[in-house]
Amino acid sequence: MHMPTRPFATALAVGMFAGLLGTVTPARTETPSPEAIVDAFEAVLGPIRTHRPSHAKGTCAAGYFAATPEGARLSVSPIFNGQRVPTIIRFGVGVGNPRGPDTGRTTRSLSIRFETQGGEIWDMANISAPIFGSPTPQALVDGLLARRPDPATGQPNPQAVTAFVAANPAATLQARWLAATLPSASWATTPYWGVNAFRFRGADGEVRHARWVFEPRAGTLRLTEEQMRTLPNDFLAEELRRRITEAPVEFDMVLQFPGTGDDVTNPTVAWPDDRPRAVVGRLTVTDVAPGPGGACDPISFMTLEQAPGVELSYDPTLQARAAAYAVSLSRRLQ
Ligand code: HEM
Repeated sequence: MHMPTRPFATALAVGMFAGLLGTVTPARTETPSPEAIVDAFEAVLGPIRTHRPSHAKGTCAAGYFAATPEGARLSVSPIFNGQRVPTIIRFGVGVGNPRGPDTGRTTRSLSIRFETQGGEIWDMANISAPIFGSPTPQALVDGLLARRPDPATGQPNPQAVTAFVAANPAATLQARWLAATLPSASWATTPYWGVNAFRFRGADGEVRHARWVFEPRAGTLRLTEEQMRTLPNDFLAEELRRRITEAPVEFDMVLQFPGTGDDVTNPTVAWPDDRPRAVVGRLTVTDVAPGPGGACDPISFMTLEQAPGVELSYDPTLQARAAAYAVSLSRRLQ
């Protein structure tokens, strides 16, 4: 999940003792409305006025994408026809405050708008963790509401957090992954996962489930504990601007296909590393905005389908995304 770190750290800590405390509230299964989802973000962060409630901090960039022949074989979408597709990019930090620090153990993000010569648009938002923090939209809402600050203390109510975590153990998996993984040293040196599964319709007419990851051509490089203490608040944007004056920043888009028993509807569980993979394209980042704002700001990177080339899977968290992003966009641009 992509929210302020402290409530998650609290949730993780409380979750470890949840069994001992023993309050279990059964998870609800209905899907909340897009408005209810965005209301839950607002309950934690306050009214959305100017910035995204998730990955609030970000820097705009631009570049292009070109599919490999394998990409053209695996998707009939024009995005994968092998031509150069211009992109608007946003690199983000998974914090609720647009001035939050770059050095925390939060996810970073790579959001992309592809726009073909023929005017077709495809948006996606990817994170630097292989899993999401909620198995369902309802769990996302319940988790946010459980972490609403108590007006008396300004902090989440620990009992509400304990009850939530006890009822939703899957909601701690991403926080555990983040706690065990140092944050990347650069926006250019981390993989970014799409997390949800999609259905790729190939040139042979076959539909294949797949998840994708953008793998950095520069390799994966993480901060040291000391750098986490000493680097400036905004080091990621400065580092990327410096880096791009020397050479473009590149990522390979890689699909991973599920094996027997792999769940295509639960984004809190990664598929094993030995599953078959295919390199379907390369993203080349050529420009970074000199300062705050830019072409990516008014975009909500709604993960829509590129029917018939890349269709949505039945993962409920994927199905819930676009409408909630649209509500959030309308509130932050009103
Ligand atoms: C129940 C599922 C989800 C809901 C309800 C949800 C909700 C939201 C909302 C409301 C925003 C702000 C949109 C805006 O104002 O433009 C957002 C942004 C974002 N979400 Fe999600 N999200 C979900 C799942 C995911 C997943 C699975 C990922 C992981 C890939 C993800 C990654 C992101 C990123 C990276 C952003 C920032 C995009 C940007 O750069 O503008 N979200 N999400």
